[in-house]
Amino acid sequence: MIIHETFNINDKGHLTIGGMDTVELAEKFGTPAYILDENVIRNNCRTYLKAATEHFSEDALPLYASKALCFAGIYKIAAEEGMGVDCVSGGELYTARLAGFPAEKIYFHGNNKTDRDIKDAMDMGVGTFVVDNLDELEALSGEASARGVVQRILLRITPGIDPHTHRAVVTGNVDSKFGSAIVTGQAMEIVKKAISAKGIRLAGLHCHIGSQIFDVEPFAEAADIMIRFIADTKKECSYEIEELNLGGGLGVRYTEDDPTIDYSSAIKNMADIIKTYALSNGIKMPRIILEPGRSLVAASGLTLYTVGSVKEITGFKNYISVDGGMPDNPRYALYQSRYTALIANRASEPADYKATIAGRCCESGDLLGEDMLIQKAKRGDTLAVLVTGAYNYSMASNYNRLPRPPVIMVKDGEARVAVKRETYEDITANDVI
Ligand code: LLP
Repeated sequence: MIIHETFNINDKGHLTIGGMDTVELAEKFGTPAYILDENVIRNNCRTYLKAATEHFSEDALPLYASKALCFAGIYKIAAEEGMGVDCVSGGELYTARLAGFPAEKIYFHGNNKTDRDIKDAMDMGVGTFVVDNLDELEALSGEASARGVVQRILLRITPGIDPHTHRAVVTGNVDSKFGSAIVTGQAMEIVKKAISAKGIRLAGLHCHIGSQIFDVEPFAEAADIMIRFIADTKKECSYEIEELNLGGGLGVRYTEDDPTIDYSSAIKNMADIIKTYALSNGIKMPRIILEPGRSLVAASGLTLYTVGSVKEITGFKNYISVDGGMPDNPRYALYQSRYTALIANRASEPADYKATIAGRCCESGDLLGEDMLIQKAKRGDTLAVLVTGAYNYSMASNYNRLPRPPVIMVKDGEARVAVKRETYEDITANDVI
């Protein structure tokens, strides 16, 4: 096993995913290509669902935050596994509908839903809007009243937790572009308006404190603040908040240096803590919604590339150039996110060659990682970057007019195309000559 269970080395010395030889997958489907192990995604969904319903309550629901990896097939998997989904745009909603995802289990997010988004989502029968601000509340209330319907909503609240600085900055994220902050009084103001707004049923509150978080503590802190706010709402407005969505954010192991995390026990810990908070604040335990993205899909995937050149700049650094880069994985360029890379056809050779992995864009920042330890490579080798299931395909672009790679799903020894490789025709389809 390398980093996660699905990644291994076979007796040919080749890297495997879900038991399938990545060198053969590269030959069959070409490179670059995203490969996903469907069983990993399904098992992660099951872990979340089981832990949430066992430790919170029967009706607790994990939503798949589909911004992490969005294409029609993933909504089908989420539906089959009994998950809800979080969509953040008209495009995600459209894709969910295409896949036949049940609209009542969609939570529609976003800090700036356009009038069209609101109409489209209501046409589709989206179950819950997560309303970000007063302008949106008014627009939604207007649309719902005009249609003579009552729309279920949650309000996005900013608890003021910065998970990366912990307790040091308790008002950390108050200046976020998302939601309404408790400390400024804006949260209570929007709650009161939502309670009295026509065409609106305020079902609950939502918060999301960040991403790639390994400790339960910041979630517990956020829950503590949210539960106290629910108690205040009950006192001030005589209104019972029935649902609390705690957002996503549990971390994923990308390299040997990252910790491993047991999602099931993390959820149990959260549940134990939150139940005591509800009890001590004299409120009924709300229905809990979780919203994981990364932790459901990241570890299911890897990206395969073909090595084009190995350049050794004596006394400086070694570059391995591949046939993809920031357009298919912008995360190193954007956040200096660290990954694990291997030469898939030499996976059992020692990883003692220090190299910077460069993409093929005309831009020096187009790197997938710097000074990484990897097997010695040569032109024609297959290079794999592991744990690319989240925020890679969904953040991919056509920079330098590079067509986006296909998404290949492997399951029980079979590989199938879930998203086709883009062609030059696809990327020029909207150009008007
Ligand atoms: N819920 C809300 C409201 C969110 O904004 C997010 C992520 C999630 C759930 C899912 O969080 P997760 O479980 O995936 O951490 N592009 C960045 C990550 C941005 C996350 C945005 N919001 C990256 O590549 O690291």
